[in-house]
Amino acid sequence: MTLRLGDTVPDFTQESTEGTIHFHEWIGDHWAILFSHPKNFTPVCTTELGEVARLKPEFEKRDVKVAGLSVDPLDSHARWAADIAETQGHALNFPLLADADRKVSDLYGMVHPNANDTLTVRSVFIIDPNKKLRLTLTYPASTGRNFAEILRVVDSLQLTDSHKVATPVNWQQGDDVIIVPAVDNEQARALFPDGWDEQKPYLRLVKQPG
Ligand code: BEZ
Repeated sequence: MTLRLGDTVPDFTQESTEGTIHFHEWIGDHWAILFSHPKNFTPVCTTELGEVARLKPEFEKRDVKVAGLSVDPLDSHARWAADIAETQGHALNFPLLADADRKVSDLYGMVHPNANDTLTVRSVFIIDPNKKLRLTLTYPASTGRNFAEILRVVDSLQLTDSHKVATPVNWQQGDDVIIVPAVDNEQARALFPDGWDEQKPYLRLVKQPG
């Protein structure tokens, strides 16, 4: 199944290290990130899961619930968790789905047969409280992801959902943002009374609102 931005993400029920998860119910009124890794007891995955555990306060600050997934069974997740805590200094503090039957992997298109026909690739799905898909990202097995970038996208999505702005290249919290083209100058004067820097009629930079 190909999931596209704006689609309602598929619901599912699957076992995890924190018990059975009914996905839509588990998301509730929060934002969510679902991400897959190829295989337990592998080096890059071990570093990624430790990093997601370390970043838990950052996800919570943004009201984001995180769940990981691989096609390994639950007992394997439990044994690997000890290695993650030992080597990364951060114990798993979010659920890892045990998708041995590939129920979720197939629903979300996380197995890319021309890369590997049995393992999930490194997928990320950012999902909003309306259960709409807001970002997808796919990395190969050989490349660990940058979870700071994923937090940055959450910041951008949450900001641009509540203000008529977009975020420019390499934007970070507190940097100037862009007034969206759909807002004309008359509307912009009402929305941004302190003014903006008009570099071109279509490129208007303004202090980050909110
Ligand atoms: C890793 O996490 O290191 C890894 C997993 C699957 C294939 C290659 C590397």
